[in-house]
Formats: sequence, structure tokens, C-alpha cells
Amino acid sequence: NVLILDFGSQYTQLIARRVRELNIFCEIKPYNRLPEDLSEYKAVILSGSPFSVRAEDAPHPDLSRIKGKVPLLAVCYGAQYLAHFFGGAVAPSNTREYGRARLSSIDTSDPFFKNIQEETQVWMSHSDTIQELPTGAVRLARTHDVLNAAYKIEGEQTYAIQFHPEVYHTTDGKQLLENFLVRIAGLEQTWTPDAFVEATVAELKEKIGKDKVILGLSGGVDSTVAAVLLHKAIGKQLHCIFVNNGLLRKNEFTEVLDQYEHMGLNVKGVDASARFLNALEGESDPEKKRKIIGGVFIDVFDDEAHKVEDAKWLGQGTIYPDVIESVSATGGPSATIKSHHNVGGLPDFMKLKVVEPLKMLFKDEVRRVGASMDLEPERLGRHPFPGPGLAIRILGDITREKVAILQEVDAIFINGLKEWGLYDQVWQAGAILLPVQSVGVMGDERTYEKCVALRAVESTDGMTADWVNLPYEFLQKTSNDIINKVPGVNRVVYDISSKPPATIEWE
Ligand code: XMP
Repeated sequence: NVLILDFGSQYTQLIARRVRELNIFCEIKPYNRLPEDLSEYKAVILSGSPFSVRAEDAPHPDLSRIKGKVPLLAVCYGAQYLAHFFGGAVAPSNTREYGRARLSSIDTSDPFFKNIQEETQVWMSHSDTIQELPTGAVRLARTHDVLNAAYKIEGEQTYAIQFHPEVYHTTDGKQLLENFLVRIAGLEQTWTPDAFVEATVAELKEKIGKDKVILGLSGGVDSTVAAVLLHKAIGKQLHCIFVNNGLLRKNEFTEVLDQYEHMGLNVKGVDASARFLNALEGESDPEKKRKIIGGVFIDVFDDEAHKVEDAKWLGQGTIYPDVIESVSATGGPSATIKSHHNVGGLPDFMKLKVVEPLKMLFKDEVRRVGASMDLEPERLGRHPFPGPGLAIRILGDITREKVAILQEVDAIFINGLKEWGLYDQVWQAGAILLPVQSVGVMGDERTYEKCVALRAVESTDGMTADWVNLPYEFLQKTSNDIINKVPGVNRVVYDISSKPPATIEWE
């Protein structure tokens, strides 16, 4: 196990992902939550930071507990702070030190630089520079502008680099991390999806014993993989609940329910469409729509959970980015199910003990774990779909008629993307029903009908997104199909806005 001590860099999670790509498990902890017991960690990595080590409010943890005791790799701010803490000097730099640079004068006799050539490209992003190395340090490499680009402490497994090995632009970054973790710290590369499944199933068996677990399935990747893991561990003691809120995609409820049953899951499909749609009647405000849906979901789920006698656990598909404590965060980790209506206290199911088998995984790892358990690629590659579903894609108030129209439009668009081989190139796609009517002609008649927008974006995590340059031929065919086949729609537009400043959803 590797500990990544986070000083607040935007790249910290990227370090973790690179380490895990080497099949080595790692955890991120904020610098001010250094675990009491470091004996379980075979190596520590110090991250970068937006701070200057010279700033008073910068992260200044006591490194003497780590340095010389555990193999240590200090990156960027980490490298500067290591120097600052142990007798070196860090000062503002007078040359630009941002972007690509080339390493030279590399000490290739050191195992850290095994298989690395002179002039290898690295990525720099810092404004301070290490003027004097800390006590006992020797330089291992420089760049044109940065004298102390890499150093180590003699007689220790302590290394420091001014550049970022985790970013793509550092060509040999992964090799450097491997050199440090495997050659120097002696870690084994055994953390694979199969090993994760085996260890997690054993752990879940031990933890849950003969108890019953309730889990809400959404059709999404996370809840599905969580369910399959739990099912492997405890079989029919896992009670899954799949709620139809009436705002899913066309046929999604029956098709996905079928798939779940096919996978052998003990799943109950609950069609609560009417309850949701009735509660939403006349409501146009996006946030109120979300609250209503969240509230009804909790009520429906609570009713169903009560039908499972003696349940002790609530399973959740929480993943690592939901629980990583970040340095800048003001509060604690986020809760997966937020209580929208806890005026009368928490609903009973929220008092159950929580089991979250994916809590330590990134999204791409969830997919790989799913694949190693033979989940269908179709389920694992599914686009994200928001919890409130089509409710936030019908601008304004929601009626059954509008839901039915949007389901048809969305199905034509999504099936088209699949048929044209475009679905997997897109991160998320969907259709939006606009509160706009416009004039058209159909045969000899003038029409005055609805307008839909199509949206397809590329993204990695939904935080930023670019609209996708879909082929005109595809858009043309899709638009014709929609207007010809969906009564009530006479106009189709394509959303060409990126996030930011636009969001992915329109509400
Ligand atoms: P935005 O619209 O904020 O969307 O750019 C980013 C991602 O979040 C999804 N999204 C939601 N998911 N409940 C959800 O479960 C919501 O209320 C919600 N709003 C947006 C959106 O689909 C996209 O993937």
C-alpha cells in the first residue's frame, strides 16, 4: 500500500491513478491527516500544491516521521518542502518554469533513472525554485532552467523531483514511478481487477456474514458493479431494488430489469412512475423538481426496504472520487444519498450500516472490475444518466405526454449513435425538450409544434465538457427520423456549447 500525501494539487488524483495503473494500490490522505501508524505503508508520495512553501498558511506537516523511515518520493511542492524542511533553500524563480522541459545531466547509475534517457521530456509547473538542496542531498538531474530538477538524500530511499511524473507530457513519468515504487521501494505489482474482486468478495463475506443487504440499482455502472460484487459474496442475501421513476429512457426499466434478472441478481423492480409524475405535476423550477424526485425516491425506497425483514446493511455504489477528502474542502466526505426531507428524522433505511465495496476505486477501475466479472460491455460502457432522468431534460413543467415524446426522440438519437458506431466516442448524450413551439409546414399544412435539442459531449469526469463534432450526415438522418416519426416535434437543433460556461444538462 502506498500513501499519497495531498498538498492540494490539481494533479493528486492523477498520481493515484498512475500508481494504480502499475497494479499497485494507493490511498490519498490530506497532509494534515497523516495517519498515526505509518507501518502499513511501503512508500509515501508527496504531491504538488498551489501554495508556495514560503507562505505562512502553506501546508507544513512534520516530515521527520516519514523521511528516512519509509521510501519517499516528493513531487513539485513536495520536493520544495522537503528541501525547505531539512535545511535547503527555496526562493521565487526568475525564469519561467511552466510547461515542457528536458532533463539533462541525469545520473543514470541511480535506480531511479533506470531506462531513462538524457533529454527526456518532463512537465514543469511551479513558480518557486530550489536554490539549495537539503542536508545530505545530491543532485540527480537538471533542466535548462532548473538546476535542481531531481535529487536524492544519500543513504536513504528519499527522492525528490521538481517536475510532475503523473501528467501525460512527462514522457517517462510512468517508468519513473515504477522505478521508485518497484525497484527502490520493492512493492509488488499485484493489485489487479481479479485480485481486487477476490479480496473484496472475501472481505464482504467476513463483514456481512448471514445478514441481509439492501441495495438500490439505477442501471448505471457503479450500482451494477457493486451489486455483482455483493452478489458474489452473499448471493440471495442481497436484496436489490430497482425503481422506475417514470423518467427513465424508453424501455429502460424493463430491459435493464431483465438483464439484472439474467445476471442472477435478487432484484425487485418497482414501478413508481405514477407516484413521481403526480408529485411533479405543475412544477417548473429545476431545483424543486430535483427535490421532489429525491424525496419521492426516498419514500419509495423506504417502503420497499421495510419489506425486506431484518435487513442490516445498505449497499451503495459510492466510488473513490466521492469520498476523497480534499485539502481545500470545508466539510467532510460527501454522502451518496443526500437527505432531502429529513425534517421528521432520517428514513429507516438510512439508519442501516453502510457497505460500499467500490469506495476505493476510480471510475475506470470500476469498469475494469466489472469486466473481470464478465459484466456485459453494454452495461459497463453506458453513458452517465442523471438521477432525476428526463425531468431535467424537459424544460418547464412535466407531463406524461412530454415524457413520452422525449423518450421517443432520445431513443432515435441514442440508437442512431450506436448504429453509426459513435456511441463509445461520446461521453454522454441525450435529447432535451424545449419549452418552445415554432412554425413549420407539413404537406400543405402549417404546423405549430415542439422543438428538441440534441446534446453530445466529450468529457472525462463531467466537470468540463466539449460538444462533439458529430458528422453532418448523422445529424441530418437523425433530425429527419425524429421529425418524421415523433408526432408533435417539427424542429431539431444541435447544442454546440461547451462546459464551462454551459453545463451538460440544460437544467
Ligand atoms: P452538468 O449539467 O452539471 O452535469 O454539467 C454534469 C454531470 O452531472 C449529471 N447531473 C446529475 N446527476 N443528479 C444526478 O444524478 C442531478 O441532479 C444531476 N444534474 C446533472 C449530468 O448528467 C452530467 O453527467
